[in-house]
Amino acid sequence: MLDNGYKIIYVLYISANVIESAKQRLGERGSKVQCIVSDFTKFIPPVDFDVWHYRSAFYFLKREDKIYKYFFIAEDAIKKDGYLILGTFLENGPTKCSGLEIRQNSEASISASFEIAFHRIKCVIEDHTTPFNTIFHWHYLFYFFYFFIPVSKIKLLLTYIINLKLWTENHF
Ligand SMILES: C[S@@+](CC[C@H](N)C(=O)[O-])C[C@H]1O[C@@H](n2cnc3c(N)ncnc32)[C@H](O)[C@@H]1O
Repeated sequence: MLDNGYKIIYVLYISANVIESAKQRLGERGSKVQCIVSDFTKFIPPVDFDVWHYRSAFYFLKREDKIYKYFFIAEDAIKKDGYLILGTFLENGPTKCSGLEIRQNSEASISASFEIAFHRIKCVIEDHTTPFNTIFHWHYLFYFFYFFIPVSKIKLLLTYIINLKLWTENHF
């Protein structure tokens, strides 16, 4: 992105060590990248982004409420008329990534989670060869954030209400 002239770039990763070594690799150019060390489900966006490229991590979210929480953050973080690019394995992908179990989402289930606020533009599929030489389909889902209704916030609230009701029924 730096080579292509992008000037305001933020990178988020959970490990401070990894962020630090990536900055070292970039050398002087590393000072042009704003680095955030955070769990992405607890991330508080410091600015509104034009483009949010979210690669290789969405599938770690296994519970519905975590997925809604993710879209909750995305709706906060992306400018209206901005873009979200979600790079992910879908169903028939691997069952683990980075040693962690992953969720087998479908293109339809992801879109259904946030289709009112985000409009899907296209899906690009590439072959991805894992370190174990297995080939899986890798999906890039492109979305346009066009409708400023906090759909995921409403869904998240509903999920909490339903979970609270189930918990209450099981405990009393
Ligand atoms: C396959 S790597 C991809 C890294 C990078 N996004 C990329 O595309 O090269 C997935 C990484 O996401 C990290 N990860 C998992 N859950 C996370 C979370 N809640 N917040 C931030 N990173 C997380 C894992 O530790 C793992 O290193």
